[in-house]
Amino acid sequence: MHALSRIGRVGFASSRALLGSPAARMSAGAGDPSKNPAVGRLRELVQLDSAVGWDKSWEAGITPWDLGKPTPIVEHLVNSGTLPKGRALVPGCGTGYDVVALASPDRFVVGLDVSSVAVEKAKQWSSSLPNADYFAFVADDFFNWKPSEQFDLIFDYTFFCALDPSLRLAWAETVSGLLKPDGELITLIYLISDQEGGPPYNNTVTDYQKVLEPLGFKALLMEDNEVAIKPRKGREKLGRWKRCQHRPSL
Ligand SMILES: C[S@@+](CC[C@H](N)C(=O)[O-])C[C@H]1O[C@@H](n2cnc3c(N)ncnc32)[C@H](O)[C@@H]1O
Repeated sequence: MHALSRIGRVGFASSRALLGSPAARMSAGAGDPSKNPAVGRLRELVQLDSAVGWDKSWEAGITPWDLGKPTPIVEHLVNSGTLPKGRALVPGCGTGYDVVALASPDRFVVGLDVSSVAVEKAKQWSSSLPNADYFAFVADDFFNWKPSEQFDLIFDYTFFCALDPSLRLAWAETVSGLLKPDGELITLIYLISDQEGGPPYNNTVTDYQKVLEPLGFKALLMEDNEVAIKPRKGREKLGRWKRCQHRPSL
């Protein structure tokens, strides 16, 4: 682990014409969600009824965050050999590209998503892959799901910012309960501000600190994601968190 470095918000590049990939289309609507119809519609759907809304967004193909491939940092981390082995969880896994990229004989990965439509899509494309014995997809609500064992690694990418902000403390408590005492939480934080559409809520590094630090988590690393896809370059922070022995006083 590296020392904590460069915590803070990055500057936002001005919106450019970045049409093409789904991620690019999402960023192209920066400025106001109404300028990005996909993000505006997604917000409407999930704010009405979260679980039903996510299913509807998957059914309708309103998935502007979906890269259609693993997040490059996941492959980078796997190749670095620094990730915990054992059991890993990807909550809000969507189509599951990151789940598959993390899975290996040394690491069994569970992809969890509240949308059964997303989980079906994930299973469809991945079930005959050579490493299919090393991952599984589960359709359930992160806040209610009770696995038989805790995890050595939890990887969150655009899940925290998919939840209503009132659920952030519960997110941190649930992460804490699902993670082994010496387990690692990795948050790939897609910084979304009021000036941008998001999947679908705004979030900053401070939002994570506020709910994780009182539970004893410390970011041992917080740095720019140098391998972010082009439209998200300069807008992503990689955070690697572990619990410290002594909790900061409240
Ligand atoms: C913005 S998407 C991100 C998907 C994936 N992490 C990615 O980067 O492509 C958020 C995902 O979280 C799922 N989700 C939302 N609320 C959830 C909950 N309470 N439990 C499990 N999954 C949830 C949604 O169905 C959706 O697939």
